[in-house]
Amino acid sequence: MPVTFSKSTLLLSLLLGMGGAYAANASNAPEAAVASAQGIPHPAVIAHRGASFDAPESTAASYKLARDLGADYLEMDLQRSKDGVLFALHDNGLLRTTDVAKKFPERKDSPASAFTLAELKTLDAGSWFNQAYPQRARPSFVGLPILTLDEIIDIAQGNPQHKPGLYIETKEPKQFPGIERDLKNKLTERGWLKPVTTTAGNVAPQTGEGKGRVILQTFEKNSLELLQKEMPDTPKILLLWIGEGGMAASSGVSFADSGEKDKAAYYAKLQPKDKDEFLHWLDVAKANGAIGTGPSAALTHGGAQSYFDLIQPWMNKATHDKGLLVHVYTLDEPVDFKKATDAGVDGIFTNRASELLKYYQRPAAKSVNQLLEQNGY
Ligand code: G3P
Ligand code: CA
Repeated sequence: MPVTFSKSTLLLSLLLGMGGAYAANASNAPEAAVASAQGIPHPAVIAHRGASFDAPESTAASYKLARDLGADYLEMDLQRSKDGVLFALHDNGLLRTTDVAKKFPERKDSPASAFTLAELKTLDAGSWFNQAYPQRARPSFVGLPILTLDEIIDIAQGNPQHKPGLYIETKEPKQFPGIERDLKNKLTERGWLKPVTTTAGNVAPQTGEGKGRVILQTFEKNSLELLQKEMPDTPKILLLWIGEGGMAASSGVSFADSGEKDKAAYYAKLQPKDKDEFLHWLDVAKANGAIGTGPSAALTHGGAQSYFDLIQPWMNKATHDKGLLVHVYTLDEPVDFKKATDAGVDGIFTNRASELLKYYQRPAAKSVNQLLEQNGY
């Protein structure tokens, strides 16, 4: 991802940022009508890899917690096993979030897609969390398995009081030719490409029942085209990024040459090459069937999920002016929820669904601890 910046970049970003204060009131914005037409809550709470601040990402503990907290969507990164089964895992490899080094030492650096589902299912995808976050560790997280898409669908359907939708990313789609069709086939088989209404009377359908029960997301234009071809009626989001395969950056200084103390500081100063470059990607999204974009954000306190500031008010206004929604990734703190909301976003990817729901004044009736215990963790 060769991305760079310079002093001229910083000047340009100041100029671009002079689009003025664009603060959308989430409940009244015209975008609420755009979202409503797609059956998408506004603003939307997108549980990033589940409630992954509180439980190991992309495991049953994480997805059940997000569901029971009341998140609108369970977010996942979709991959395909060596024997053709769709499963959820963010990283290309297994080292960070499983004990692959212990179970398959000779293959520890292989991509997850080089393993059969039976092999993947032998891995412990929970213990790493206890080691990384001892203050949130639980003995019951030890041994949690990687989940298939089928299993996540079961979880999404598993609470009669709240049925979240699915927000599915085709991960590294070039590695998985045909994954868009595989996904369509699975969603069709499970009845997830048609709205279903199990709610009686005049009660509005839940996210997991209406038209927007599935949202498809990708960073890759080519995968967006294929998703549109396979599932033309399903809402899609083009994820935005500065770098290879995404927006051109305004200059070519590498992180190593930038003098910045960490990647977050480096990313925060990067900008699209110019305003037209940003607008071009909105056109790419729209021309290929997306109903919105998923831009990154620079987080107030930095960290590994702090990237480019692509939710500046002028950017959100330009996106809205083209009839597109903005779902920003990945925010966990109220200070960033407020900044993003003031800048006009229509939904937020978060690892902390409990906190975002509180921010949107939709707090869960039970605590994170109570819900984890209720689910046997
Ligand atoms: O899907 C977009 C959001 O999840 C951020 O990207 O790298 O966490 O999949 P990533
Ligand atoms: Ca993702």
